[in-house]
Amino acid sequence: KEVYEIAVVHGDGIGPEVCAATVEVVKAALGPVNPLRFTEYPAGAEHFLKTGQSFPEPTFQACRAADAILHGAGGLPGVVHPDGTEAGLDFTLRLRFELDLYANIRPIRLFEGVPSPLSGVKAGDIDFIILRENSEGLYAARGSGALLRGEVAVDTLVQTRPGIERIVRKAFELARKSSGAPRDGVRRVTCCDKANVLRSYAFFRSVFDEVAKGYPDIATEHALVDAMAMHLVLKPGHFNVIVSENMFGDILSDLAAATVGGMGMAPSAEIGETNGFFQAAHGSAPDIAGKGIANPYGTILSAALMLDWLGHKHGDEKLNRAAGRIRRVTEDCLAGGLLSADLKGSASTHKIAHAVCDRLATVPGLSSHDQT
Ligand code: IPM
Ligand code: MN
Repeated sequence: KEVYEIAVVHGDGIGPEVCAATVEVVKAALGPVNPLRFTEYPAGAEHFLKTGQSFPEPTFQACRAADAILHGAGGLPGVVHPDGTEAGLDFTLRLRFELDLYANIRPIRLFEGVPSPLSGVKAGDIDFIILRENSEGLYAARGSGALLRGEVAVDTLVQTRPGIERIVRKAFELARKSSGAPRDGVRRVTCCDKANVLRSYAFFRSVFDEVAKGYPDIATEHALVDAMAMHLVLKPGHFNVIVSENMFGDILSDLAAATVGGMGMAPSAEIGETNGFFQAAHGSAPDIAGKGIANPYGTILSAALMLDWLGHKHGDEKLNRAAGRIRRVTEDCLAGGLLSADLKGSASTHKIAHAVCDRLATVPGLSSHDQT
């Protein structure tokens, strides 16, 4: 492909800051023959306040047609629909459902130089993927639940066999190729559910067990989500790929992010058969917006996932090499103490972006490890 169209949506709060920093980094990683064409489109809470539209139709059409979508962050507290839910989340949530981005891949990795609140862990000890089902589960109720007499609210959790099968297959494929090696060296997929209490999760588990039979080379186990919250704190090095329903994946990804430096260090790739959507797992952090201190690493690492996904999809090695360079330089910068305020450092968003760009100019081509 000569040109890849990237739809860029800055969004709200710190979104524009981390997104702009990331676009600079991607350009630096690709150099003068950059085949990516970035075009900005509006969406989010700010845009909703200005125009009454949180996700304009032209933005949706452009995102659907683009080769990939890059997003900063969306949503502002208090900017809500009549039902009380946030308007600024429409962009992310509608893309997930309308483009069928069923796999939300969230690598959790402790980098050298980044402080963890867990004691006794060092870089490399935590390196796993949370694979969050992104197209059904409890989130499928968004916009369609019921409020009865203003007294009773109902949202329904939906799990379908094809929906579970495809996310579980993805989990096993990721376990086969991921770099996320648990400390005991065993490649495994952990099915995280609440099968002991609710039939939807018991169904999730039974379909997981069926699909698992097709992957005899990968170890499997089950974990109830409440116990999983504890395991992620006490033995994070045990995990390789964790697959779970949408809502559980949302909650566990924040917990897991906290163990590797916080939300600023949590990238994600949301992919379907056709489209790919890349943003950090964090929100718009309006409390620090506009101060130039936001941590851009999560978005930068999400862009590396984007380059890997695009590179593999189109058989375009140079994109994978660029992804590898971004990851390598990110590692070096973090290890060298280039830390933002949330990581107990003092580097600004700009300083980090510029340092990463400068270093990119000197790093040779590397092949990447694909996590998408
Ligand atoms: C995430 C976020 C989103 C979610 C919001 C922004 C809709 O928290 O990607 O984890 O709840 O899924
Ligand atoms: Mn979340």
